[in-house]
Amino acid sequence: MSDDVSILRQECLDALAAASGHRQWDEIRVSVLGKSGRLTGLLKQLGRMDASERKLRGAQLNRLRDELTRAIEARGDELEAAALDARLIAECVDISVPVPTGRRGGIHPVSQAVEEITAIFGAMGFAIAEGPDIETDWHNFSALNTPEHHSARTDHDTFYLPAEADGRNRVLRTQTSGVQIRTMLGNEPPIRIIAPGRTYRADHDATHSPMFHQCEGLVVDRNITLGHLKGCLIEFLRVFFGKPALPVRFRASYFPFTEPSMEVDIGWSRKTGEIGGGEDWLEVLGAGMVHPRVLANCGLDPEEWQGFAFGMGIERLSMLKNGIPDLRSFYESDVRWLQHYGTDPLTPALLHEGF
Ligand code: PHE
Repeated sequence: MSDDVSILRQECLDALAAASGHRQWDEIRVSVLGKSGRLTGLLKQLGRMDASERKLRGAQLNRLRDELTRAIEARGDELEAAALDARLIAECVDISVPVPTGRRGGIHPVSQAVEEITAIFGAMGFAIAEGPDIETDWHNFSALNTPEHHSARTDHDTFYLPAEADGRNRVLRTQTSGVQIRTMLGNEPPIRIIAPGRTYRADHDATHSPMFHQCEGLVVDRNITLGHLKGCLIEFLRVFFGKPALPVRFRASYFPFTEPSMEVDIGWSRKTGEIGGGEDWLEVLGAGMVHPRVLANCGLDPEEWQGFAFGMGIERLSMLKNGIPDLRSFYESDVRWLQHYGTDPLTPALLHEGF
């Protein structure tokens, strides 16, 4: 190997070994193999040499180009791996470090309310059911006795999704009631489920958010009456709000999928905001006896089976229970808010300890 070639080789290898980052590595690469790099320069000179000299030198230079290309690539991989390792170490969270006192995270009020609702209905023998957030128009409306042009469809400010190849129209579910349909289609009665989950409506102000949470409830069995519905919901509300004497009122209303339908109110004081006190009423949930047509849509004989259903807004219940004034604050991810309204993560919602 002629002197200049071996000097170039050594200098390049030394520089690579000394390079400590991608930037330096790239400078070396360009200075050797780039358009006006040193090796490229030497290769260009070959054209001016006579044949025998060119043959010898050309072979040398080509071998060097192969060697240096491989060395540069290998060093590049090494530096990349080292950079990744350094990042992994720098970004690593040591979960064994104790949390500074007073700075433990908090369970979000929505999660906490779901835990509490689940604990109460769980104790009454209800299981949890689920359905998809992206729901077919049929499950969300049609099977629930809400015909094509019914005003309830527009009342819900539905987010419609583009039609899909299977020909089924889909929506972001406006209510968890579609889980009633899925449960009845997929299970034999007796049925006793609640279905907490996200719901969506195109609405945004202090008491409405385009995404919010509901909890559905469904009981289907033989000889189910309005008495069961009332007993179940009165019990639930009294335990949830921690008021054994909480006044509960059932007021006639309308939902397409229940008959009779009712709105459920709890007693409170408009003046002080106190739940259970005062002369005023506050609507907290919707309920009713499952409409015979809905049972039939799910293949159940309404002569044999009856049921009741209910649906509640989880944020609404949480706002009332915890005195949270604005629904939007639930989704602002403000840690100060969470520290104030959040619940200790190490204290699970257990019925026997009270909430
Ligand atoms: N789905 C209804 C709503 O979103 C609530 C409801 C559920 C009413 C079940 C009756 C029975 O308003």
